[in-house]
This record gives sequence, C-alpha cells and structure tokens, in this order.
Amino acid sequence: MSQQFYPIQVSDIYKTTADCSVVTFEIADELKETFAYKQGQYLTLKAVINGEEVRRSYSLCSSPIDNQWQVAVKKIEDGRFSTFVNDKLKAGDIIEVMPPNGRFFTEVDRKKKKCYVAFAAGSGITPIHSIIKTHLNQEPESTFSLFYLNQSVQSMILREEVEGLKNQFLGRYELYHFLTKEMRDAPLFNGRFTEEKLRTISEKIIDFDSVDEFFICGPTEMIFMIRDFLYEQGVDESKVHFELFGTPTKGGKKKVYDTNNKDVSDVSVITNGVQISFTMSQNGENILDAALRNNADLPFACKGGVCCTCRAKLVEGDAPMNLNYALEKEEVEQGYILTCQAIPKSSKIVVDFDS
Ligand code: FES
Repeated sequence: MSQQFYPIQVSDIYKTTADCSVVTFEIADELKETFAYKQGQYLTLKAVINGEEVRRSYSLCSSPIDNQWQVAVKKIEDGRFSTFVNDKLKAGDIIEVMPPNGRFFTEVDRKKKKCYVAFAAGSGITPIHSIIKTHLNQEPESTFSLFYLNQSVQSMILREEVEGLKNQFLGRYELYHFLTKEMRDAPLFNGRFTEEKLRTISEKIIDFDSVDEFFICGPTEMIFMIRDFLYEQGVDESKVHFELFGTPTKGGKKKVYDTNNKDVSDVSVITNGVQISFTMSQNGENILDAALRNNADLPFACKGGVCCTCRAKLVEGDAPMNLNYALEKEEVEQGYILTCQAIPKSSKIVVDFDS
C-alpha cells in the first residue's frame, strides 16, 4: 500500500446539503491500481491552509464498482479543512491525496446470502452507503437494513443517492429514518438511538441473532453504545464493524511531557528503504512526532490512534501505545504499533514503516 501523497485533480464538486460538499477526484489511468479501494475505505487529503499544512481523512462514499472516487465533506464549526473544501475548493483544482486506506469493510462474496445491518448518523452515512451499494450489487441474494439518524430531512447527506439505492433494491434494502428535529407518528423513529430502541428494533424489525455483519458509523458515543449493546446481546465481536471519525478523547487533550524523565532512546526509523536515526527523550513524546521533528517524511493523518495511517512494525524495543482504535489484536501481537501513540520505554527502538 502506497502511503505517499499524489497531486490529484478535482473533477467535480457539488453540495449534497447546504453545508456538505461531494468531491469527485479524477484518477489518471496509471494511478488507478494504486488508488483501487474497498467499500468503506477512506482517502487522506492534504492542503496548505493559511500557511499551515493540514491533513484530514474522509470516507469514500462512492463504490469501487463505480470506477469513481468521491468523498462527502461536511463543514464543521472551526473545521479548517472542511471549511476550505466547502468554501474554496472548486473543479479543476489540484489537491494532495493519499491512496485509500482503512479496515471498515468485509470481503464481498458473490455466492453468499448474507444479512447485513448498518447504523449511521449524519456524515457516518458516507462509508456505509459505499458498503451497501457494493454488497447489494455484488451479492445478489444478500439483504441490508439501514437505520439512518439525522436532525431533519433537509440535513440528510446523500439523501437522493440513498433513496435511489433503496428503490433500486426494493425487497433487499430496508431503510429506516430516525430524526431528532422533526417529529413523526411512530415514537421509535423520533430522536437518537437508545438501548431501548435497539431492543425494539431487534424484537420488531430484524432479529439481531439472524444478522451476519453489523456496520456502525457516526458519533463516538453512538458507536460505542450500539457496539456494547450488541456485545451484551451475545453478538460475536467479529461481526461488529465500526469506523470512528474522531478520537474518543476529542484529541484536544494537551500533551503533558514528564520533564523529570531524563532517559533517552536511540530511535531508528526505516521508511522507503532508508533508515533515519535520532535520539529522543522518554518524556512521553510519541515516535511519530519525534521523527517528524527530525525531518523524517512519514505517513500520518489523525494523530489520534484512529486512522491507522501511521502504522509501522516495532522491530526492536519497547514502545507502548497510549490509544489504539485502529489495530487488530493480532497486529499488536505481531508487533505493529501506531507510531502517533507509541511512547519509547527502552534505550533502543527500531521501527519499520516498510514491513
Ligand atoms: S495518524 Fe491516525 S492512528 Fe496515527
């Protein structure tokens, strides 16, 4: 997987709601293999905004079967990148894009008849729509039920696309809208998801025991509430897939370094076949930040333990992670770390980004 950025042209940009833009990228034929993706994966974009480099990851809302690369970017308050995309970016502009990444998918199996359920809220629909479109098109016997939460009908991202897909797959795609700022007759569909509502859904709409895979994307609290509810109901962890859009700690926690710790680590970082070595304090700084300070050109996006872009193999030494919302248990056992979260604890550290 390539983790470098490529200059990519924006071929189209339009508003799906008043504050959300859908951006289409023109991927040249020679880059199509590099940019091949799975439903549910994301792109990391980079731009210099007011003199500062900013990176953000956005889920692809298009499907790999479309031969198209599209992301939907919702403008958020004080969001530098989302404001740039919604207010400034236009068709014809060139923007730096890293090839697709992410693990929010299950493999398509054309011969399988699977029952899928998804919970999405707001812009959480973007990877979910890609997943639904791909599985329904490629698995002729599979079914999908989507529980989609929004404030109002007007604020629904990709509304036309979602409704269009439902109409295309009548009988295999059930769509249930939940709204927080518009009242409907059935109380179930008014307001956020709660444990009580999940129980009702499982009893009256779709028996969760019969579901093969669950996909969840939206605010962190919602994701964890649904995930924990499913675990409590005995749903196997391997069937529950979720995608975090932000760091659960809000990422705003100020880093505090232990200035009394005078221990140091000799760190070697291998990337693209080149080794970079430097010495860093064991005061709590993570390996990624120290390496970037030492001019290493390394892949990263969220810096919050969520996106996995900064993943590397710890070949030597000890560097426990503060947070990990991205690596699987097996990867951690194999020695992989999120370098943005890994804090050196031994005198020698070797980290391999090529492994
Ligand atoms: S940069 Fe996203 S997990 Fe490290």
